[in-house]
Amino acid sequence: MTLSIIVATSLNNAIGKDNQLLWHLPADLKFFKTTTMGCPVLMGRKTFQSIGRTLPGRKNIVITRDSNFNSDKVFDIITEPNLDVAIQHLQNEQEVFIIGGGEIYKQSLYLVNTIYKTIVNTTIQGDVYFPEIDTNQYELIWEEKHLADEKNKMDYTFQKYIKR
Ligand SMILES: NC(=O)c1ccc[n+]([C@@H]2O[C@H](COP(=O)([O-])OP(=O)(O)OC[C@H]3O[C@@H](n4cnc5c(N)ncnc54)[C@H](OP(=O)(O)O)[C@@H]3O)[C@@H](O)[C@H]2O)c1
Repeated sequence: MTLSIIVATSLNNAIGKDNQLLWHLPADLKFFKTTTMGCPVLMGRKTFQSIGRTLPGRKNIVITRDSNFNSDKVFDIITEPNLDVAIQHLQNEQEVFIIGGGEIYKQSLYLVNTIYKTIVNTTIQGDVYFPEIDTNQYELIWEEKHLADEKNKMDYTFQKYIKR
């Protein structure tokens, strides 16, 4: 099973504030959708509530410590205290995407094989940040730069890293 992180950060690694994203970038939403489509997506309870709905075409798995948390909308709710134990539930899948937020990224960064990172060309204060990627551990294998346009108000770069 390939375990992947997918994340969008500012230049200073901010990813969210007040349980919301920091920008509206349709091109990145489209990239997220096409990259994750058909694969299970694993997220923290706060990210699930921030999205406010399940992502269609993907098994939505929510991780929480609240044994009373309930939603008939999600495929599975995992209450494992350790993320690596939670991930073992998904061993039979071809690729699983960790889609945030900050707490879940931090706990999974050492576990993943692949990181899809969109860098949004802005410096902005958030209340949740993505850790710096250690390039001794992860190699940048693909990068695609895009300029702002009518729909996407900021320049952005798609990157893919794999574990060395
Ligand atoms: N830019 C991006 O790509 C991106 C992507 C996703 C999210 N975000 C942003 O990130 C922010 C949310 O991130 P966050 O760090 O505040 O929250 P989060 O990581 O989405 O969720 C945290 C919650 O996950 C549960 N949890 C964490 N570790 C656990 C473990 N080991 N076992 C069981 N449950 C565990 C806990 O839920 P309980 O409290 O229920 O126990 C915890 O409160 C929002 O602003 C969102 O918009 C950004």
